Amino acid sequence: MEHDSEFDIVLWGATGFTGRLAAEKLAARMGNRGDLRWAIGGRGREQLETVRSRLGPAAADIPVIMGDNHDMASLEALVARTRVVCSTVGPYDLYGSELVDACVRSGTHYCDLAAEPLWIRKMMDLHGAEAAETGARIVHACGMDSIPSDLGVYFLQQRAMQLYGKPCSRVKMRVTELRGGFSGGTAASLLHGTDPELRTPEMGRAMTDPYYLAPEGHRQGPDEADDMRSTKVEYDEDMGAWTKPFFMGPMNSKIVRRTNALLGYPYGDDFRYDEARVVGDGLSGRIKAKAEALGYVAFLASASAPTTRSLLRKYVLPASGEGPDEETRHSGQWKIVLVGMMEDGPMVKAFVSGEGDPATDSTTRMLIETAISLAEDADEIPVGGGSWTPAAAMGDLLLDRLTENAGLSFEFEPTSTVAGYASATS
Ligand SMILES: NC(=O)c1ccc[n+]([C@@H]2O[C@H](COP(=O)([O-])OP(=O)(O)OC[C@H]3O[C@@H](n4cnc5c(N)ncnc54)[C@H](OP(=O)(O)O)[C@@H]3O)[C@@H](O)[C@H]2O)c1
Repeated sequence: MEHDSEFDIVLWGATGFTGRLAAEKLAARMGNRGDLRWAIGGRGREQLETVRSRLGPAAADIPVIMGDNHDMASLEALVARTRVVCSTVGPYDLYGSELVDACVRSGTHYCDLAAEPLWIRKMMDLHGAEAAETGARIVHACGMDSIPSDLGVYFLQQRAMQLYGKPCSRVKMRVTELRGGFSGGTAASLLHGTDPELRTPEMGRAMTDPYYLAPEGHRQGPDEADDMRSTKVEYDEDMGAWTKPFFMGPMNSKIVRRTNALLGYPYGDDFRYDEARVVGDGLSGRIKAKAEALGYVAFLASASAPTTRSLLRKYVLPASGEGPDEETRHSGQWKIVLVGMMEDGPMVKAFVSGEGDPATDSTTRMLIETAISLAEDADEIPVGGGSWTPAAAMGDLLLDRLTENAGLSFEFEPTSTVAGYASATS
């Protein structure tokens, strides 16, 4: 479906914490460029105008679009005006469904920061087929969940194929650094995901089934069930350090496996994948890993219990619109290592890293590059409409943009016999 649209990108939810940051980053990226037409939107005119007034002179005249995520008429008017909607209005299960519906029906491309498997699957099941007809490319999980994992594995497997003619049948992702904070929307998503009143068998499956996000007919494979409440710590020989479960692992892994299935199994149909957080070496590393793993599970338990939930919401977690201060955001950093193993072959590695607070600064830079890619690379993106992952939809196009513009770095190490925690974190 062709669009005779007024805008290339509308950043939707620009008054929220990540929305404001995304608006700043988009304004800085666009500078005085007039060839990409963009606007900001949301439900509060005054707040949107305040956001716009802080974007600098080049963005002083960008239009402000009004609407509400539960008012379909306003969403239909929005999607009729733009080629891409980039949404930071979440938790998406609470606010995002009508917007995806409107985008799909009008053939408008869409990207977001959703890290909510249950909702993503709902959108895929409801709208995937229609999106294929209308040409709308729908891409979820375009922030720290799950671009580094998704594009990191894609990058590693491409290099492995080029060098050795075959993919790695197993990849393990290890987080070696994750420094920063998180915003009110992330806290709201966590509280929504742990709400005891919303617990259903389907929610249980969304959390534990490793192939939950794979397309229908592809929901099986060699990986074991995810356990959100695991406190297992393990010594990782390749990293030379103790690891604990990585809290975003179950979500990221589902996206990586979905990419493999969507692309026709370039990583192999027996591909195995897992994620963990590197903590440290020696006895102190082991004790710290166990203590942190237990601490996280205790935190999840308190987020699920009615009394402690309300205390967390009231006194501990950031509220909507709040998030880490500028110093935390700027001094933040993240690094991951992907270790790829082949049957009877060498071990290969990819080092992927990003500048700035992973969950806010770096996330918003990844999100806006995805939106820009959906707008500017529309004729080169090799897939048509449908429900995609970042790697399956944009692959190399997005990889290049993230490297050039979003402070991400992807490095490949061909053959690696000795790894070691020090080399991974240096
Ligand atoms: N995947 C990742 O790595 C990652 C990282 C960070 C954040 N996130 C996700 O990003 C989302 C946003 O986080 P945040 O911290 O920016 O949240 P936030 O500060 O609470 O902002 C939420 C935004 O949604 C808007 N909104 C709420 N209800 C609306 C409605 N009915 N119609 C239109 N707009 C509405 C709010 O508008 P008002 O200002 O008018 O209230 C605000 O602009 C969350 O889902 C979070 O989980 C994901």
